[in-house]
Amino acid sequence: MILPIVAYGQPVLRSVAKDIEADYPNLQQLIADMWETMYHSNGVGLAAPQINHSIRLFVIDSVQIFANMEDEDRGKYPDEPGVKQVFINAHIDALGGDEWCYNEGCLSIPKIREDVYRTEQVTLTYLDENFVRHTRRFDGITARIILHEYDHLEGKLFIDYLKPLKRKLLKGKLDDISKGKVKVDYRMLFS
Ligand code: NI
Repeated sequence: MILPIVAYGQPVLRSVAKDIEADYPNLQQLIADMWETMYHSNGVGLAAPQINHSIRLFVIDSVQIFANMEDEDRGKYPDEPGVKQVFINAHIDALGGDEWCYNEGCLSIPKIREDVYRTEQVTLTYLDENFVRHTRRFDGITARIILHEYDHLEGKLFIDYLKPLKRKLLKGKLDDISKGKVKVDYRMLFS
């Protein structure tokens, strides 16, 4: 089932999400719905707070990015062919590498894209959809998506990284989104 995506301005996007137990109600269905919702809205990642659940769960698919990339661009990234993965109760163990810039967007903040600096690598401990524990390092675009989705669990958004002036310039657009004055081709939750 495709779920509505929580729009910028809703408190759930500013809450720190909680770890869950294996008996969390309808978890497998929720995960299936998150994949469906993410693909329907052409996203490459989706975090549970964005579908109004304040829990530490997110899904990412960087495989589709590489699949759609021009051949000459593909060699630039260390994480080819990408990762498709469910992350439950993820916690960051370490960040590594240099900071690099990438133009980010967010399904909760439609029609806004901005350059954001993040580290090249992230090591995190998480459970997969079967509650099997992993500690793994991710790089490149995959690390980028993970760090963006992980921020959602911490109540953080990519616009928080922008310089104050840039943020000020976006204020009108952000206010419009929070009031539902934005046109998107997927369903959103404004209040
Ligand atoms: Ni996002």
